[in-house]
Amino acid sequence: VSLRPYNTFGLDVKARLFVRFSSPDELRALLALPEVQQAEKLVLGGGSNLLFTQDFDGVVLKNEIRGLEILSQDEDTALVRAGAGESWHGLVQYALDQELSGIENLSLIPGTVGAAPLQNIGAYGAELKDTFEQLEALEVSTGQLRTFSREECGFGYRESVFKGPLKNQYIVTSVMLRLHRRARPNVSYGAIQTTLEDLGIGGEPTPRDVSEAVMHIRRSKLPDPAQIGNAGSFFKNPEVSQQKYDELKARYPDLPGYPVPGGVKVPAAWLIEQCGWKGQRRGAHGVHDRQALVLVNHGGAQGADIRDLAQEIIASVREKFGIELHPEVNIF
Ligand code: EPU
Repeated sequence: VSLRPYNTFGLDVKARLFVRFSSPDELRALLALPEVQQAEKLVLGGGSNLLFTQDFDGVVLKNEIRGLEILSQDEDTALVRAGAGESWHGLVQYALDQELSGIENLSLIPGTVGAAPLQNIGAYGAELKDTFEQLEALEVSTGQLRTFSREECGFGYRESVFKGPLKNQYIVTSVMLRLHRRARPNVSYGAIQTTLEDLGIGGEPTPRDVSEAVMHIRRSKLPDPAQIGNAGSFFKNPEVSQQKYDELKARYPDLPGYPVPGGVKVPAAWLIEQCGWKGQRRGAHGVHDRQALVLVNHGGAQGADIRDLAQEIIASVREKFGIELHPEVNIF
């Protein structure tokens, strides 16, 4: 089976087996099949955060568990449950339609609900963990369902236990969020405010206004995977010590930085752009011309070429700044 329609880089690689499931019971039954049990497994949501560098000699399990519902409400909040196979942006739109706020800053993030907790998706001043209540996941080895609270998920910057100690051990089947019934617009991210002004939206913005602004920013900077293959940010933004940051700042006065506990977070896009990569093209692949953190497949590129380009970028940033970049996408 060609995985080309199932990865946003648009890479034409093959999987030995490809199966879909639309309920936890179906998933459990699949996992009990000997040919699935013995094979290497890859659970696929939207395929928007992975890079295939070769054919996948295992079984791809495509999560198609659906469902969007409000489980309960109190005066201030509503508890919403979404099936892991729902599109993330579909959930954002559902919340807006129900006049619930809390995830509008995460508008237009590609991928599925089930993939969102794995890397604690975040953008424009919000992260999944801010509204996350709990999730349900199926244990691969036993087929049993269990819930994970926010604490048990171990969320960090683009991190969770499901990328760390529990990697490949659980498959997320549904996610519950606690959303606000009273609008709580979060415009802490500077570009949201300026975009609201550009769009002529004055006064207190509604969640829908914030969503519009975020979509506007994303469309202006990030390539649409339907047109140009990509997986969003290819690298994480690195953290350096305050001392290291001060040294670099003396040499590069324009260096941006955001204080975080224990140091300073530096935009990887800035480092990459300073190394001259922004907009560079190597045949079919390259670095996006409006966001240096995004690697792109203009059509017909090989995953291994993109991986090699990423290695070169890592090496040049290391050489110029002494900072180590780490991929944010999962590389197979
Ligand atoms: N910058 C450059 N050159 C560029 C782009 C950005 O120098 O080509 C510098 C600028 O100083 C800018 C700063 O980088 O102010 C930050 O840029 P941006 O706001 O575009 O955000 P980012 O740090 O590059 C992160 C997330 C994105 C998320 C945005 C907005 C990571 C790895 N990426 O990018 O998430 O949408 O913030 O909050 O944290 C993703 O994870 O796939 C993703 C797209």
